[in-house]
Amino acid sequence: TARAVTSRFRPAIHFTARNTWLNDPNGLVFHEGLYHLFFQNNPFGNVWGNMSWGHATSPDLLHWTEHPVAIACDETEDIFSGSVVVDHGNTSGFGTADAPALVAIYTSAFKGASEHGGTQAQSLAYSTDAGMTWRKYQGNPVLTRNSANFRDPKVFRYQGEQGSFWVMAAVEAQQQQVLFYRSDDLKSWDFLSGFGPANADAGEWECPDLFPLPVDGDPDNVKWVLIVNINPGAVAGGSGGQYFVGQFDGVRFVPDPGTLAAPAGVSSLADPEAAAAALRQCLWLDWGRDCYASVSFSDAPGDRRIIIGWMSNWDYANELPTAPWRSSMTLARELSLTSVDGSARLIQQPVLAGTGGQLDAGTFELRDSAFRLPDAVPGGAQVIEAEVLPGSAGRVEFRLLGSGDDSEGTVLSYEPDGPDTDSGTLILDRRQSGNTGFHGKFASAESAPLVLEDGVLKLLLVVDHCSVEVFAQGGRVVLTDLVFPSEGSRENRLSAEGGPATILKLAVSTLA
Ligand code: FRU
Repeated sequence: TARAVTSRFRPAIHFTARNTWLNDPNGLVFHEGLYHLFFQNNPFGNVWGNMSWGHATSPDLLHWTEHPVAIACDETEDIFSGSVVVDHGNTSGFGTADAPALVAIYTSAFKGASEHGGTQAQSLAYSTDAGMTWRKYQGNPVLTRNSANFRDPKVFRYQGEQGSFWVMAAVEAQQQQVLFYRSDDLKSWDFLSGFGPANADAGEWECPDLFPLPVDGDPDNVKWVLIVNINPGAVAGGSGGQYFVGQFDGVRFVPDPGTLAAPAGVSSLADPEAAAAALRQCLWLDWGRDCYASVSFSDAPGDRRIIIGWMSNWDYANELPTAPWRSSMTLARELSLTSVDGSARLIQQPVLAGTGGQLDAGTFELRDSAFRLPDAVPGGAQVIEAEVLPGSAGRVEFRLLGSGDDSEGTVLSYEPDGPDTDSGTLILDRRQSGNTGFHGKFASAESAPLVLEDGVLKLLLVVDHCSVEVFAQGGRVVLTDLVFPSEGSRENRLSAEGGPATILKLAVSTLA
């Protein structure tokens, strides 16, 4: 029955709302021992609309408890995306020095008849009970440009040569611009600068984030990462997340010299082939179809930088074959910067804990016949870790969530560019993954360029009931795709074609 199908797809370790729609993660904040996840939510249905902030908390970023709607839409405004800060210095006056308020900075999408009708402007709400109840500020909106597409404020505390103050990154979405503002009290904001268009710019820029990270853990070599989500025009089609690496001096974001694939934006390139090549040279948080609106936590412990994305794509999000819930979040991913050929690049590692072992296969030669891994288990997600020396194999392939007869399966493959080379392509193919027919744009195969280290292909796969997340080469390349396999399609296999491959490590564990 339709009901059984739906419950089968509900993820084991990814957040879904109990019986409603969700999109972007909002207001990610760690406070008093709990991770708070607010999210774009339709409290009254399972398609986009009536946008409000839903709310969930977790002690470990894996197991979430949903709470009542935190900030609700009303007759004058919908509550669009934004962020939450802990106002430690009580700069806003909403809390006290001893008990700082949580302050949400969100976009008011003002409705027709109201004073600001038809515009998007930035507003505040605050909580003095650790995030459980929220009050809107009387002086809203606190920042308007009388624009219809000014949204998604991400606020953080800047500390540097210019002093100590709040910085907001928001977008002028249709101009492909991130705008930076500063404030001392979260209520009055001064314009600093703008960035963009640059690199991927074919769609609207949404949900920006800006934060510092040390390169290779060196506190004397700190760079700034600017995340810019884009819809459509992402590398795998539809919505996706790109990032830039550079410097932020409290006024301006300046990308590292020579690091932009298209300094004036990919759409400024007249030659379609050059534009397609430049798009693949942009920096992508995720090369798959289903990771959007990723932003990071405020106040995460130990200065960790942790992001969560919405695990869907605007191309087909409203039609995903689940009910009464629709859409989930990606796993939380911890970010670091590493230098690659002299440039700083993001590494992402999924936050995982408490796995139960299913298999540890050790080292062996993989020849003509496929190696059968433990089947997926209903009620849990699987974590598959593999280190493979492709050797002379022209293709190494994982077939996941397959039917025994090969008519169905999600196929992850690595194909080297040629013999004796460490560069190749990683492909995630869901064209035969099960139910793909609910939308014409869902059946797809995504690919990312991959460079092996010392000839070793390193993969960490997280397979939940309706998703596959791929972290390759220690998290340098990430691909996330939703899949909706038929009941009983649980078979996992590993094979090599064109020559033997050496398996250095193959371990499978479950997580529930
Ligand atoms: C991104 C987005 C945001 C907006 C929100 C509305 O997915 O379009 O720009 O604030 O969703 O739900």
